[in-house]
Amino acid sequence: MKTSKQLFTEITSKGKLEITLKELDVPTPKPHEVVVRIEATPINPSDMWPMFGPANLAEASYDANSKTLSAPVHESMLMRIKSRLDQVLPIGNEGAGTVVAAGESPAAQSLLGKTVGVLSGATYSEYCCVPIQACLLHNEGTTAAQAASSFVNPLTALGMVETMRMEGHTALVHTAAASSLGIMLNKICIAEGVPLVNIVRKQEQADILEKLGAKYICNSSSDSFKADLYKAIDETGATLAFDAIGGGTLVSDILTAMEMSGSKDATGFNTYGSATNKQVYIYGGLDFSPSILNRAYGMTWGIGGWLLMRFLAKLTPEKIGALHKRVANEISTTFASEFTEEITLEQVMDPAIIAKYNAKKTGEKYLVNPNKG
Ligand SMILES: NC(=O)c1ccc[n+]([C@@H]2O[C@H](COP(=O)([O-])OP(=O)(O)OC[C@H]3O[C@@H](n4cnc5c(N)ncnc54)[C@H](OP(=O)(O)O)[C@@H]3O)[C@@H](O)[C@H]2O)c1
Repeated sequence: MKTSKQLFTEITSKGKLEITLKELDVPTPKPHEVVVRIEATPINPSDMWPMFGPANLAEASYDANSKTLSAPVHESMLMRIKSRLDQVLPIGNEGAGTVVAAGESPAAQSLLGKTVGVLSGATYSEYCCVPIQACLLHNEGTTAAQAASSFVNPLTALGMVETMRMEGHTALVHTAAASSLGIMLNKICIAEGVPLVNIVRKQEQADILEKLGAKYICNSSSDSFKADLYKAIDETGATLAFDAIGGGTLVSDILTAMEMSGSKDATGFNTYGSATNKQVYIYGGLDFSPSILNRAYGMTWGIGGWLLMRFLAKLTPEKIGALHKRVANEISTTFASEFTEEITLEQVMDPAIIAKYNAKKTGEKYLVNPNKG
């Protein structure tokens, strides 16, 4: 365990993306650090922007000798990513594995040999040296593959329900709802009796959620979508939505349905719409096209961004500890993740495999095992 193979990304100011496999020394852990052998790390949508930025992956090529993937980045895109240009950056938000070395503090020592989830931003690596606060300790018997997605999707799904309560709403709307995260959110909402309106774009996705027991599912490809959405929002009283898509008119459609429901009993002149706040958080960018707003929802609404790390910063360490414990206890039920295929660090750079995982299709998530082979 003297050295560790690790993936890095760089976009140069000349307009070239390079993802490279490098070999680095594994650091000696400081008193409150541990070294984790990463055995399973997912490729989530949130990993792909740091990995590739706006590179044209249709023109990507892989050089097996230098273990480097290259792709062009159009000049017009470089200003958008100025803050990262010419920097060699680690990739991989989260992962899991075994603690193989620990600093001298009792807390670090107690993790030796245990399976932990890790949130580090550098998990596409054979070994990761992290502070113990970046670890989520799993129960005996949990495998690294089960623990691979311990943070990003589980804590975001839990964070949505927490946000709903903290901001005084009583029901939720969620888009791209058959995503891995959407499945977790359904399980949480069903268990806790929180009404959830699921928006999907295909019948197969509606079928997945129906099997889980979801009550409200609206298919945006259906002719009756807007009427279905209004009915579901009116029945649940949802005034908060989390949107993973971003582009197009969906955010506006949701706010319109919320307003129609909120002012359905209004009488007389109703210039400014219902007084109840209607809020949409855009928390993903599955569609990079502009968000189109028709503003047909009065004057009491908000649209904002939502990011897990910034939400967690609002919670006490005790609350975060309780969320971690719940994830550990329910990692093979509520927070179970399914993976299409396990791949190596080299395969992460294979253009044919990139085309598959970068499509971000329902039920097609890839798991990297940096120690495979
Ligand atoms: N803000 C945060 O802190 C945070 C944290 C965690 C996750 N996220 C976001 O959460 C979202 C879901 O992540 P995940 O890991 O659960 O994803 P996932 O399992 O890979 O699923 C992606 C889903 O999105 C759908 N989709 C893709 N492109 C779409 C589009 N243009 N319009 C509508 N649906 C589309 C796919 O359906 P098809 O099969 O129809 O393509 C699929 O159901 C991502 O956007 C991710 O970035 C954000």
